[in-house]
Amino acid sequence: MSPTPIILDCDPGHDDAMAMILAAYNPNIELLGISTVSGNGIINKVTENALRVCALAKINVPVAQGAGASLLGAVEAASDIHGETALDGAPLPAPTFELQKMHGVDLIADLVRKCPEKVTLVATGPLTNIALFLKMYPELRERIAHIVFMGGSASRGNRTPYAEFNIWMDPEACDVVLKSGLPLTMIGLDVTHQALITKEIFAKLEALDTEVSRTLSGLMRFFAKTYNDVFEMPDPPLHDPLAVAVLIDSAVTKNRFVNVEVELNGTHTRGATVVDIYNRTGYKANVNVALELDFDRFWEMMLDAVDKAGR
Ligand code: RIB
Ligand code: CA
Repeated sequence: MSPTPIILDCDPGHDDAMAMILAAYNPNIELLGISTVSGNGIINKVTENALRVCALAKINVPVAQGAGASLLGAVEAASDIHGETALDGAPLPAPTFELQKMHGVDLIADLVRKCPEKVTLVATGPLTNIALFLKMYPELRERIAHIVFMGGSASRGNRTPYAEFNIWMDPEACDVVLKSGLPLTMIGLDVTHQALITKEIFAKLEALDTEVSRTLSGLMRFFAKTYNDVFEMPDPPLHDPLAVAVLIDSAVTKNRFVNVEVELNGTHTRGATVVDIYNRTGYKANVNVALELDFDRFWEMMLDAVDKAGR
């Protein structure tokens, strides 16, 4: 089977960095390019981080800077989790190539136009760029095979009691995606909170013993500390790579095709994804929601990609 062509839209971010490596080093994926979006840090920080992760892992694909704020102009950084640089915990090499001169959304359009096959969009940050692409380039919608996004939750949130960070950052963008009519897969907290970096996983990561694995271990140790400080989780959840993993092996998660809406107006619930697991609303199903993880299958592909990145 030929590799799945994808574009990764991200806000590196510790877990975004791991998603970049999985996308770049798994043979079932063809990473066409990377666009960045404001989320874990302000846009210039997450973009610098994307270039530095590319330098660390020798990822050589076009990178372009995308939206610096949500559709409504909101900017927020998750420095309590990702630190002041948005990727604290280990020194990263200087970038080895320049950013593309175009906006991230225009890079998405350019890559979609040039790809002979339909392209899958993988979003691991707020959905601002994806929504802008859908609105600015309606003629290219037919060239999109699938949108996989890390975001939302069928239960509680992490930025507010009911809203997950990526969706909370730009609920209007999420609404555009949910109403797009395109094939959608949601990788929410329900499944990502099963992708824990346990002590055993840390040991396997450190046993790889390459510059890449040592740097990633330092980054993940930082991530583990902040996650435990904020959420009292001794083992941090590695959210974003699951949005790539489901394209590599569909058996890595168990999913349900249900209706998902996003709350835009709730005083206390704005940004919450309303996942109708038991079809209580009767609304039309629109999203494939991942709910269960095959832990071993995921970590096998993730650690293999880290190993390849370091060789
Ligand atoms: O809620 C977790 C998500 O928000 C992850 O994508 C993380 O990188 C942050 O962007
Ligand atoms: Ca992210």
